[in-house]
Amino acid sequence: MTDLRLATISTGAISHNIQTLRALVAPALVMAVVKANGYGHGAVESARAALDGGADWLGVADITEALALRAAGIDAPLLAWLHQPGAGFSEAVHARVDLGISSIAQLTEVAAASGTACVHLKVDTGLHRNGAFLDEWQQFFEAAVAHELAGRIHVRGIWSHLANAGAEHDAKQIDLFSTAVAMAHSVGLRPELRHLAASEGAIKHPDARFDLVRLGISAYGLAPADDVDVAALGLVPAMTLSAPVISVKRVVAGSGVSYGYDFYCENDTTLVLVPLGYADGVPRHATNRGPVSINGARGQIAGRVAMDQIVVNMGDTPVAVGDRAVLFGDSSTGVPSADDWAEAAGSINYEIVTRIGQRVVRRYER
Ligand SMILES: Cc1ncc(COP(=O)(O)O)c(C=O)c1O
Repeated sequence: MTDLRLATISTGAISHNIQTLRALVAPALVMAVVKANGYGHGAVESARAALDGGADWLGVADITEALALRAAGIDAPLLAWLHQPGAGFSEAVHARVDLGISSIAQLTEVAAASGTACVHLKVDTGLHRNGAFLDEWQQFFEAAVAHELAGRIHVRGIWSHLANAGAEHDAKQIDLFSTAVAMAHSVGLRPELRHLAASEGAIKHPDARFDLVRLGISAYGLAPADDVDVAALGLVPAMTLSAPVISVKRVVAGSGVSYGYDFYCENDTTLVLVPLGYADGVPRHATNRGPVSINGARGQIAGRVAMDQIVVNMGDTPVAVGDRAVLFGDSSTGVPSADDWAEAAGSINYEIVTRIGQRVVRRYER
């Protein structure tokens, strides 16, 4: 049976991308970020592929995601960094999950967990999301020293996250991060891993790489920013989203299409029904804009994206029921890219791949 909705994931592309990026950032180590179901690609499969490609670490947002990787038998060094009070810190420690720690309160809680927690102290260098604020650093580090001396924690890392707000802001954050590292040293901490950069910073700023970089979107072969040419770096998109054509209709000029008739056909044309909708992650904002490739020809969504389906205007291209409609994949093969969809939806490629829905079957190929 053919799958109705299919995301084909090239694990070989993920391995290759990690290997390529690892060579680029060496001697820095690479953490492959597999949060949010591996950016929609499957957390476990993406993690395995990244490790095959030479990833040194894995990173996820929360402890639940980390424990799911451990339950799947993945034993690699692993960091989780987004925690609510009362998160399962003891369970994480027992599963050898390192914890990103952003405040003294969190540090106190983790130090009270059973076992010795390996922590990465997060400082806010300007993103103003997570991480200890500048005027708390001294206290934060001193508290960490006390807990370390008591054997309650081991400080393995110190880290921060860039806002990617332009070279000038990046440089300020890099400087401030170095200040934080020096302050941590001055109170007696000796974290072996200093890390700041995600994909964009790691690719653009060699001085942001420190001991390790945390790579998400680039590991999946997609660009972290418009001015990063991932193809020129040798990266390959890992996900292709496709479905079989369900019906084909030849309609006359003036025909209205889909709910609300947001689209009227200008000419006699071929309309093709594709069983992917907003429940599957096709952005409703791509109404009348999203590109689709069938039999090597480009069509465009006609009318509103529905929950389960889209109608694609294929003009005079011959299409038959059962032909494969590709929404996005590796654009070097002639199909649209996740970036094309991001543009059509006023979004970013991260959101396009991450929101691919649960009922889309993931099929893994090397
Ligand atoms: C703390 C942290 N590090 C690294 C990443 C990976 O970022 P990117 O996908 O841009 O490489 C993320 C993703 O949002 C993140 O939140």
